[in-house]
Amino acid sequence: MTKITIHADRRSSRIEPEIQGQFAEHLGRCIYEGIYVGEDSDIPNVNGMRKDVVEALKAIRVPVLRWPGGCFADEYHWMDGIGPCAERKRMINTNWGGLVEDNSFGTHEYMELCRQLGCRTYITGNLGSGTPREMSEWVEYMTFSGESPMADLRRRNGRDEPWQVDYFGVGNESWGCGGFMRPSYYADLYRRYGTFVRDYGQRKRIRKIACGPNADDWQWMRTVLADCCTPGKRDAGRMMDGISLHYYTVPGEDWDHKGDASVFTTEEYYRTLAKAWRMETLLDKYCDILDEYDPEGRIGLIVDEWGTWYDVEPGTNPGFLYQQNTMRDAIVAAITLNLFNLYSRRVRMANIAQTVNVLQAMVLTDGERMVKTPTYHVFDLFKEHQGGVLLDTTAEPEFVSSGEDKVPLVSLSSSMDESGRICLTVANASASDSVTIPVEVSGRSCRVVRGRILAGAPDDKNTFDDPEKVTVRDFFADLVDGSYFCAEMPPCSVASFILE
Ligand code: AHR
Repeated sequence: MTKITIHADRRSSRIEPEIQGQFAEHLGRCIYEGIYVGEDSDIPNVNGMRKDVVEALKAIRVPVLRWPGGCFADEYHWMDGIGPCAERKRMINTNWGGLVEDNSFGTHEYMELCRQLGCRTYITGNLGSGTPREMSEWVEYMTFSGESPMADLRRRNGRDEPWQVDYFGVGNESWGCGGFMRPSYYADLYRRYGTFVRDYGQRKRIRKIACGPNADDWQWMRTVLADCCTPGKRDAGRMMDGISLHYYTVPGEDWDHKGDASVFTTEEYYRTLAKAWRMETLLDKYCDILDEYDPEGRIGLIVDEWGTWYDVEPGTNPGFLYQQNTMRDAIVAAITLNLFNLYSRRVRMANIAQTVNVLQAMVLTDGERMVKTPTYHVFDLFKEHQGGVLLDTTAEPEFVSSGEDKVPLVSLSSSMDESGRICLTVANASASDSVTIPVEVSGRSCRVVRGRILAGAPDDKNTFDDPEKVTVRDFFADLVDGSYFCAEMPPCSVASFILE
């Protein structure tokens, strides 16, 4: 029995909605086919965007969408993606399958997609192969309302009003596909390029995100911070609003043997979860490092790529990173999103890789068919946390293990919204056993509890022939004395409880 106590009177950081953000790259069938089919497609669309996908994403309240990459961003020249479609330059997507990219999805289309989703915008600029001028002009094109060469060009392309750019990433994985740079060199480039990411007086200023480390590259983080802010001088946050972190859960031994997405042993299941829990160590250490350089907490930790990464589905293009998604992925998502909530004092945004048809996707498409993945349903269960305040929640620690991998049995977090509603999200990681969870709320009395649950065998998945195999169901719990209920959570399950 793992007893949970929610301390409703012990509130801490705000859970920024952006923590549940998405990432969509020009990679495989994510943008093309998965989101954008063009206005002439037989697949129902609004201005070229698939209706089914947009509706599904709106239902989970996507708060922000990172675009155009990923590795693609450092080869992307934004001017190739504006103007009449037929005249747009074609290019080779060298990172992802060597396909011809026709640039039919460009800045205007991205902004239209964000409009339809009602989400914030997060653009990653080309630091690897672009110039400061190119980066600067892109920002001018998107955000300047006055008369200027770029604003006039935007108008000639049919858009009078500027758009709101909420976040701007200065390069992507500059330690890898973005240029294989050393951290001090990147820090200098960040300072230089970042200077020309100007604010043209839009409603809210652009928040600049520096390229942070891969997984546990502490040195990268330290060097970039040290070169961009001086401890004690309180200038952290002047240079940057956030610094990124990328961490993927790869269960296999190495990148050539990542493991199968839906055929795996119980041992591999627990190994995957153990690797997902490494996020906790990363967040812990990076928070400490950030506290050293930025004690006032101005710089956000932006986990703008995370998720599971397996071998591609047999028979699919290796450069397309298409993988199935099971209840194992749902547990990984729940562990990770709970961790982001718990570290929300510093984690201000996170973007799962990727939204459609790539890596740990929300939805998969096949022609006009679309299926929601178990991970999608986890985002649906967690959406009530968006904008809430983290509550102190305690639980007696218990572990499950197999072979060398020992993982916490339960992952959880809770928050309270402005109206006083409490949301508790819990995952039972055991592959085989139910767990009885008594939940007590201290510091406030509630009237009612409503539960929803996602459960299945670790390898259960949704397919185009069986799209509802894994889906959210109502989950009843009796509230006793306004402060107590007991949940019997089946093996491998994720639940959310709303207490009013
Ligand atoms: O998400 C797939 C790729 O993973 C991204 O393009 C890159 O940034 C990372 O290595």
